[in-house]
Formats: sequence, structure tokens, C-alpha cells
Amino acid sequence: MKVGVIGNGGREHALCSSLKNSDKIKQIYCFPGNAGTSSIAKNVDIDLNNFEKLKDFIIQNGIEFIIVGPEKPLVDGIVDYLQKFEINVFGPNKMASQLEGSKIFTKKLCEKYKIPTAKFGIFSSTQDALSFLQNCNFPIVIKADGLAAGKGVYISENYNEASRAVDEIFNGKFGYAENLLIEEFLIGEEMSFFIISDGQSYKMFGTAQDHKRVFEGDQGKNTGGMGAYSPSRLESSTLNQKIINKIIEPTLKGLKNLNCEYKGFLYAGLMIVNGEPFLIEYNVRMGDPECQTLLPKLKTDFSVIINKCIEQKLHELNIEWYEDKSICIVLCSKGYPDEYQNNFIIDLEKLNIKKNQFIFHAGTKKVDNSILSNGGRVLNVVTRSDNFKSARERSLKLLKEINWDNGFYRSDIGYKVIK
Ligand code: AMP
Ligand code: GLY
Repeated sequence: MKVGVIGNGGREHALCSSLKNSDKIKQIYCFPGNAGTSSIAKNVDIDLNNFEKLKDFIIQNGIEFIIVGPEKPLVDGIVDYLQKFEINVFGPNKMASQLEGSKIFTKKLCEKYKIPTAKFGIFSSTQDALSFLQNCNFPIVIKADGLAAGKGVYISENYNEASRAVDEIFNGKFGYAENLLIEEFLIGEEMSFFIISDGQSYKMFGTAQDHKRVFEGDQGKNTGGMGAYSPSRLESSTLNQKIINKIIEPTLKGLKNLNCEYKGFLYAGLMIVNGEPFLIEYNVRMGDPECQTLLPKLKTDFSVIINKCIEQKLHELNIEWYEDKSICIVLCSKGYPDEYQNNFIIDLEKLNIKKNQFIFHAGTKKVDNSILSNGGRVLNVVTRSDNFKSARERSLKLLKEINWDNGFYRSDIGYKVIK
């Protein structure tokens, strides 16, 4: 089979690697990919905004299915477009992608179907937002409605911070803003909960927890993710059932009532408050770096899972996982998430990668025969083990071997699950 993956991050290298493990896969194409994917797939440098060029390539090369990694093309309607040409594509359509593309769409769905979430208000003018903020308790959460690459969420400790957030959003920091969300600050523990859906039926696809802040102890600025571990320590059959009953099922039902089926991965970002799940956000894709830490635990052939989804026969399949724990640590360019430089050589030649260890590339590119850094998050070092402690120690050992002068990483990923 010939298959394709859209995207160029660590998530997409992990998706390609899982496909590569399948003896059913003859050729993988990655659009546009990175240095890591280039060793297992053919990287194809097509502008992801150019759906037509992408479609032509897929048809000309007889690609049998496409997995869309990142949210932007999904929210832009890539699935609807490719399906018009009878291309098999795994990901939600434009309507369903509003779950991530518009926080207000999701909040309204929550309201209608009584899905537990933080209390909220929608404000369409600076004046209304500020007069509300004058009488509320802090901290409070202020969010831009649309996609903001993980940066459109402000946790404001006081009125001054909050009013700055309102100004930034309405002044167009994340694109033109017709309105914004102000919501209650929830206190609890976060959990990422994944399902995979074929449009008719769905299955759980594991849990994980990422670390978004740049510094150890979860301090400093938000990033795309400095590391992750799986499973979440909160996972239990009771909690899973609550999440499914109170959050996932009403969401899928709400979409169905809009005549919309959900095909793809769905990632619920949750806050667990005294054992009760609250929805913080939906993402219409796998998480990054959660995907890198989850997929190495998958036992079932990943290409079979995607094929079943495309045929809408996911219910026939029992998805199996290794019982192990997994930790992913992200090696970043110095300066990230602020200014950083690219094009530093990373030497991975002599690395001693052991069984159940994986290096997934993110911001890398291959020039001649060298691997150069090409982004803020550069590599994902993942270890699967029977316990979190050894998973982290072994990932750290590999990072020390890489010994990359231009990078840094957090040594404390998974501290909540490691004493
Ligand atoms: P989001 O992009 O919506 O996932 O928000 C980014 C981060 O902000 C989340 O991972 C949470 O840590 C935090 N956050 C968002 N909304 C809330 C909330 N209502 N209460 C507490 N923390 C929140
Ligand atoms: N790790 C957070 C995300 O993928 O959105």
C-alpha cells in the first residue's frame, strides 16, 4: 500500500514510524516531512495551503490513504476538498474541525448538550469585556476564539493583566477577532484523553499528559509541549466511563445532530476536578508530543486501524496496547519559545538507541548528509518501559549522549508520576 502523512513535526514522524512497522505498507509519502521522516518516507515539499497540488500528487502517485497530522489544514477544510476527488483521508471535515477551530463553537455545544466545562461568557467588545472583568474573581482565563498555535489562552491574575489580554486579542494578535471568551479558572489536574473514530463508531485511544511550560517545575512560558507521558496517572475505568458518558458521547451526538460525522482522532483536553471531568478544549488531531509517547505503546498494526476507519469498520477491531509506561522528552533549540536560531548540526550517528527507544524528529532538515536544526522543538526522545522512572532515566541518558550544545530540555518530565 502507498500512504501519505501530512505535516512536519514529531507527531508526523511518529505516525510515519508506526505505518512503517506494518508489512502492508510499501511506500509512505510525508508532506513536507523532516529529516526523520526522510529516512522512512519520501518527503514531498508541497505548500499545504495548495490543496489542488496536493490532490494532483496523491492521484498521480496512487496514494491509498492520507492521514492529516496538524489542525490548520483540517480547519481549512482539506478533508472536504480531498474527499470530493474520492481520496481516502483520515481526519475530520471542516464542520467537525470547528471543535478546535472555534472555542466558541465548542462552548455552545457544551451548553446545549450539558457537557461539563468551565463557566464562560462570550464578549464582542472591549468595553463589555472590561466591565465584566471589573467585578470578577481572579485568576480568570481569557481566550481568543480561533486557532492560535497554543498561544491564545491567557491566565490573568488581576484586572491589569486581563485588560492587556483583552486588548491584545481585539487588536488582532491572533487574527481578526469578532469576540473572545472569558472563563472560570478551574483548579484540578489536567489529562489528555484520546479517541479514534470512523464516523460510525469510535474507540478509546489512550491517555497522556503533556508539560506545556518551558521550565522545570512547570514554570515559565507556554510552549507547544516540552514532553509528555502516557498513561495519565488519573486514568481509571470509572473516570474513563465518566469522560465517555459526559463529554465524548454528547459531543458526537451534538455533531450528528448537525448532520456531521466525526472521522479522525479526537483529543479532549480535560481538567479533572475532584474526580469529575471538565472539558477545557478539543483538538481534532493527535497531540504533539502526546502522539510520540502514545504510539510506541500500540500493539495493533496502525495501518490496519486506519484502514478500518476508512472502511467505517472500526467496530470489528480490538485495539491492543502494551501495558508499559512511556515518556517523551523534547529537545529544543536554545531560546525557544522566544527567539532561537536554526541550522545547527545535530549528530545522531553514534547514538546507542536501545530496544523500546525512539527518536522522533520535529524541527530538523537534512542538508547533504547532515541533520540541521530547523525549529524550536527539534527532537523527541521516547522510551517505553515497565515503569516511568526507568523510562525517564533512559530517555535522559540518550539526551546526554546527543549532547547538543545548542539545545536544552526539561529533566523533570513526568515528575507527578515519579517519586
Ligand atoms: P488550551 O489551549 O485551551 O488547552 O489552554 C492552554 C492551557 O491553559 C491548558 O492546558 C490549561 O493548562 C490552561 N487552561 C485553559 N483553560 C483553563 C481553565 N478554564 N481553567 C484552568 N486552566 C485552563
Ligand atoms: N500537546 C498539546 C497539543 O498538541 O495541542
